[in-house]
Parts: sequence; C-alpha cells; structure tokens
Amino acid sequence: MQVVRLRRLREKSTIRDWISETELHPKNIILPYFVVEGKGTREPIKSMPGVYHLSIDNLLKDIPEAVGIQSILLFGIPESKDRLGSQAYKKDGVVQKAIRAVKKKFKNLIVILDVCLCGYTSHGHCGIVKDGKIDNDASLEALAKIALSYAEAGADFVAPSAMMDGQVKAIRETLDENGFKDVGILAYSTKYASNFYGPFREALDSAPQFGDRRTYQMDFRNSDEALREIKQDIDEGADIVMVKPALAYLDIIYRAKQKFNVPIAAYNVSGEYSMIKKLSGGDRIKERDLALEVLTSIKRAGADLIISYFGKEIGKWLC
Ligand code: PBG
Repeated sequence: MQVVRLRRLREKSTIRDWISETELHPKNIILPYFVVEGKGTREPIKSMPGVYHLSIDNLLKDIPEAVGIQSILLFGIPESKDRLGSQAYKKDGVVQKAIRAVKKKFKNLIVILDVCLCGYTSHGHCGIVKDGKIDNDASLEALAKIALSYAEAGADFVAPSAMMDGQVKAIRETLDENGFKDVGILAYSTKYASNFYGPFREALDSAPQFGDRRTYQMDFRNSDEALREIKQDIDEGADIVMVKPALAYLDIIYRAKQKFNVPIAAYNVSGEYSMIKKLSGGDRIKERDLALEVLTSIKRAGADLIISYFGKEIGKWLC
C-alpha cells in the first residue's frame, strides 16, 4: 500500500493557514476588568500579572488599547461590604458609575456585568446566608435587584454567576417587568467548584469566610449534570450559556456545543491565566504561544466566545 502523505498539507505555512479549521479572532474575546473607586488608580493584582485594579478614568484610557475587542466584562470592588451585599445594587455604586462612563464613551462596545454577591458580602458567599446556609430563594431576589440596577445603568448583558437555582428566570422576569426586554442574559450555567479561581478571589477579596462553594457550584466529577444546568438556563431564558473554567472542562464545552444550538461562552479563568504566566516566566514569545494554543483549543472544542485576561494582547498577537 502507498504511504498516505498527510505531511503534504503541512509543508508550507501558507498551506497550513489555507486549510486551518479553527480561527481565533479578537471579536469573540470578552475582556474582564476590575474597577475600583477613586481616581488615577492602576494597582497591579499580584496573583494575576498584567491585570490591574483600575479607577474609572484609567479604565476609559485602557479600553482603546484592547485592539479588536468588542466586549468587556466588568467586576466592581466596593468600598465596604455587608451581610446582604447591598453595595451591589447601589445606584451610584462603583460598577454602575463605570457602566455609564463606558457606554457614554464607547457606544458600540458590549458591556457585560457579572451578577453575583460574593464580591459584596462580608462572608464572601455568592448568596444570602440564613442560619449558616446559603438561602436559594432569598438570593434570587437580591440577584434580580442587582441585575436590574446594572440594566438601569446601561448594561447590554448581565451574567448571573451565583449558581442559584432559578436565577435566570428571576432575572429575566425582573428585567422584562421593568422595560429591559433587550438586555441579554449570558448565564454562567455550569460553574464548577474549581481550584482555579484562587487568583481572582484575591483580586476581588471574595474568598468565602466559612465553608466553601460546593453546595452551589458544580462538582467537577460530573458532566451529565452540566447539560441539565445548561438546559434549565436555556428554558429559563438565557441567550448565551457559559462553561467555567474552560481549559480543564473542554469536554463539557464540546458536549454543550453538540447538544444545544445557543451560543456557548467559556471562561478561561484566573488560575488558568496565571499558570501560563508562570510557565512562560516573563518570556513574551512563550507566553503568546502558550496562550494562543490554549485559547484555540477552547474555540476548537466549540466555544463561540471566550472570556480571557489575555484580551488586551490577542489583537496585537493576531494582527
Ligand atoms: C463570582 C465569580 C468568580 C469568578 C468569576 N465570577 C469566582 C468565584 O466563584 O469564586 C472567577 C473568575 C476567575 O477565576 O477568573 N462568583
């Protein structure tokens, strides 16, 4: 039998480009930002080299540097926290002010808001705590209130990430009742109780003060359950569903893409980002090559959108 020469298609870089199946593009990347009160702040987040706490003035300066990026995900760091996370739905909260400023300056940028309580509660949990437990239904009310305040400030999408049952339905109903039918929901449908969120929790100072998140975030031994979570969110009105983390969960992205015909987003989380930073040890070329390989694998698995802290570099790398 003749040798089948698959290498013919790898002989030249133009041929490799010609037949490449997966194309990463900055327009499909969502860039997260951490916003703080004040002016002139650009404080490096130690656990996430290259990522900063930015005050709104510096956020507005930073966005144009993200070549080709068409969407951002905002997280706010409040000045104070309480048991109910009430700073999260303050009209002039840091993140509400940031949304207004960003939408005023960058009209076509899609602004997405993470809807959760963990960054705003003194106990660091993603829901309301009653008698030492995370109370699902009391949390729904709070989450809907937060989502509404983001919509009022001008958010294009809200992204519920608390993993409470019924959160998409509660938010959809509240938005609709208040005239925000066009505000979309990007649901963190399958958010695993992952060890890869460590650096982010330092950035947001949101580590739980007692217990852990395993009574609401998903068990990483399961994947059928992930499909149930996604189905439920679609039925409740999610426009886009998310798998998080991404790199350690490529099988979930793949299964979700095969099964559902809604756009799939994947969150390449802080620990996955920091891992690449560590491995490349400050070598920019190594960092680029590692990041492009990882992000392409997430796209190849089936993600339409990728949330990535490399968002600012991607446009430069790909041009
Ligand atoms: C809020 C939230 C978390 C992340 C995004 N939204 C953390 C958590 O559940 O502790 C993690 C993002 C990252 O690690 O990059 N619930």
